[in-house]
Amino acid sequence: YVLGVDSSTQSTKALLVDAADGTVVEQRTAPHPAGTEVDPRAWLAAFDEAAGPLLARAEAVSVGGQQHGMVALDTAGEPVRDALLWNDTRSAQEARDLIEELGGPQACADVIGSVMVASFTASKLRWVRDHEPEHAARVSEVLLPHDYVLRHVAAPGTAAFTDRGDASGTGYFATSKGEWRPDLAAAAIGHEVALPRLVEPGAFGGETSAGVPIAGGTGDNAAAALGMGLEPGDVLVSIGTSGVASTVSAVPVADGSGAVTGFADAAGGYLPMATTINAAQILDLQGRWLGVDHDELARLALAAPAGANGVTFLPYYGGERTPNRPDATGTWTGLTPRTTREDLARAAFEALLCSLADAVDLVVGSTGQEPRRILMVGGATRSAAVRALAPAILGRPVVLPPSGEYVARGAARQAAWALSGALPQWPLTGAETLEAEPTPGVREAYAAVRDA
Ligand code: XUL
Repeated sequence: YVLGVDSSTQSTKALLVDAADGTVVEQRTAPHPAGTEVDPRAWLAAFDEAAGPLLARAEAVSVGGQQHGMVALDTAGEPVRDALLWNDTRSAQEARDLIEELGGPQACADVIGSVMVASFTASKLRWVRDHEPEHAARVSEVLLPHDYVLRHVAAPGTAAFTDRGDASGTGYFATSKGEWRPDLAAAAIGHEVALPRLVEPGAFGGETSAGVPIAGGTGDNAAAALGMGLEPGDVLVSIGTSGVASTVSAVPVADGSGAVTGFADAAGGYLPMATTINAAQILDLQGRWLGVDHDELARLALAAPAGANGVTFLPYYGGERTPNRPDATGTWTGLTPRTTREDLARAAFEALLCSLADAVDLVVGSTGQEPRRILMVGGATRSAAVRALAPAILGRPVVLPPSGEYVARGAARQAAWALSGALPQWPLTGAETLEAEPTPGVREAYAAVRDA
């Protein structure tokens, strides 16, 4: 058996998996505080609760974690302050400052693979330097969430390690070369800091006190790609706290427009990605405002016509990153005295899916390869309205893999890879394909408001 763990924004999920075929043997979850600024030690406690009891039965372990989070540690390895997470947009100005220092957006993308945004670790380090100099002065090592969890899992004294997939979201990693840029980390925080050692795909970076080997781990999106067995040209849309469209590419991307982040994947390739900050929350808020649960929200939405009788909105409630508008708020348009609750519910699903469709177009455009398949995952795919409207708004069939913990499964597959020396083929059975007549006018209405 191998153990794969997903240390996500809201909780920690652990899967004990049969290394031969990927069958889940046992699954456990533990919550930890969610938000945009969190004491990272809570992830360690959640790891112990969820994964601790499974570790003794595992021959190898790995962790996929939320990307970008800034875990700033002092010389004793203790957090200097709470971790600033990927969904914290306070560092928008600092991202702009760092881009400027690198010579502008295209120069920035040429160096790190992406145009820096508020989510990136480097922006957060710069924010700490500029707003909390007393904290900045005490930072001696900077880790990502998954590295921080892995070091906790490793025997005491193990130096921290990471992989190129997660490193590529820091803003101080030369993604196309696969090398740290310690000078950029130092420039962000104001002095030199220690960075984790890079572990190759399919290798181990350390072991637990009991001798269980630990793979390099990776960021959650790269782990999910591994967990779903994505192949070049496959486009994955994930609707979670964030909305993500990604595609597997053999060559690096350096999009100076900033729309597509040119991350590395966990298998030696690349995973260009467009991320929206507002995803599942759009439906959660709409349900709360209308006073209905998710089933009723879907029922209302499906009772309204495509286009919601002219109601549309930009769902950038928490600021947004695709498009890059960190200071945005939500903007509704087309409300009239004739607008119904059905229209309001419909507009929520359409706004979510239009925002995701924009993200799909961007990643497909960055590689120039025709999409092989569009796959969609996330809790929202259980919604009848998402299932009905996704193929209509994306204008193509949408494949729904069976529900599963793909980040944890990907971490488990990485551990199995390191254990056997070859990437195991784990079958994915039970996928469902959704089809619908396209409703292109919905995207046009959204685009008109977005570009106004
Ligand atoms: C990707 C991103 C999010 C987090 C979510 O750039 O910020 O998908 O990885 O955990």
